[in-house]
Amino acid sequence: MKNTVVVGAQFGDEGKAKITDLLAQDADFITRFQGGSNAGHTVVANGKKYAFHLVPSGILYENKICMIGAGCVIKPDDLKNEIDGIINQGVSKEHFEKCLKISPLAHITMKYHTDIDGYSENSLGKDKIGTTKKGIGPTYTDKYNRCGIRVEDLFNKETLSKKLDTILPKKNKELEFVYNLKPYTKDEILVECEEYRKILAPYVDFNWQENLLNYKNNKSILFEGAQGVMLDVDYGTYPFVTSSSPTAGGAGIGASMGPITIQKAIGVFKAYMTRVGEGAFITELNDETGEKLRQIGGEFGVTTGRPRRCGWFDAISAKYAVLVGGLTEIALTKLDVLDEFDEIKVAVAYKNKLTGEITTQYPTNVYTHYDWEPIYEIHQGWNKSISNCKSYDELPQNAKKYLKRLEELLGIKISIISVGPDREQTIFI
Ligand code: GDP
Ligand code: IMO
Ligand code: MG
Repeated sequence: MKNTVVVGAQFGDEGKAKITDLLAQDADFITRFQGGSNAGHTVVANGKKYAFHLVPSGILYENKICMIGAGCVIKPDDLKNEIDGIINQGVSKEHFEKCLKISPLAHITMKYHTDIDGYSENSLGKDKIGTTKKGIGPTYTDKYNRCGIRVEDLFNKETLSKKLDTILPKKNKELEFVYNLKPYTKDEILVECEEYRKILAPYVDFNWQENLLNYKNNKSILFEGAQGVMLDVDYGTYPFVTSSSPTAGGAGIGASMGPITIQKAIGVFKAYMTRVGEGAFITELNDETGEKLRQIGGEFGVTTGRPRRCGWFDAISAKYAVLVGGLTEIALTKLDVLDEFDEIKVAVAYKNKLTGEITTQYPTNVYTHYDWEPIYEIHQGWNKSISNCKSYDELPQNAKKYLKRLEELLGIKISIISVGPDREQTIFI
């Protein structure tokens, strides 16, 4: 297998984990490169449904190394709960100890980060971002402000103590005077860090430089993204985004192996669109069609349980995602959800409600998005179940026409079509 990166190409929840799990079959090493437990990744395998947040979606295979890379942020108690949950579903503790690795350079989400995330969201009122309240933004803020705590710091008492003497007085001022939140004593933080050290100890790969060099030279690598290009901190619907880079470019940095390691970038698109959290969504449907997509697609968040906002496929933002996300091919998921729709719409341009201007360029200022309405192309549905189709040839003619048109609009090929949540419900082209 060519080294491949799998990224979400819309607003997250495209079904990336299903695709990563499938491709992991042919990989030796699977590495998550950004995000934290804000992600909610579903894998259905051997009749069981698993929910992953930070654990890479290749973990269900024997003898594959799964790494949480340097670009990720980790809340160790959340990770522990996640691992315990998977162990309860029958994966052994020994398997985790053998296969799960953590980069010593990943940053730790401290309790004060989740405190601040919760407070910021509540205080923004109607302007809130709608975060998952997992402390993601505040952790990445500290990372880039050069006052974060990294996994390796937990294993060096002197460094940790020294760092806390610099970080904590400032952090406490921020907590008290900016956010009106409770400050922490150094002892409290040391206790928290010791708890985190114990949780992470079995997995931290202090030999990562040698190991990654070996994988880079001799093994097949799968890079796993979380969230999606339209939630990217640079290219997404800023500021209604996450705080990392879920693009193919982000993989080179976050997995510690540089861009040249990657030969293929699969963008995962849903056959329609969803979003959780706030921010404009030009093809959103606040009507019974949107509700029908939500019910048939089971569109409720894995991490927060929030109902996902639903809408038609937006080829303008999709083409933009292909460009800025560095995508080379498409995995199209949830095509089966459209089985019962007489008409399927695709936005092929936007019209400005104020000026009448028509554009096929993606407007990057999201504050203007409410001024744009989609111009739709209407496709005839196929009105039959495709969940059991095993090959492209078995798909109904109208489904094929829809796929061909998406390829034409996006300018890259569809190489995987998903027609259900199971591994078997997948068509490789
Ligand atoms: P991720 O965050 O991108 O990995 O996606 P989520 O797991 O948050 O959401 C995708 C949901 O769709 C999960 O419940 C999957 O089991 C499900 N799913 C994935 N592919 C398909 C598909 O082709 N058809 C249907 N009906 N469900 C799918
Ligand atoms: P997966 O990997 C969908 C959204 C949140 C919010 C914004 C910022 O399952 O696709 P954050 O907590 O990251 O600061 O929230 O990003 N968001 C996601 N939406 N799927 C996700 O992950 C998401 N992770 C974050 O809803 O709008
Ligand atoms: Mg998800």
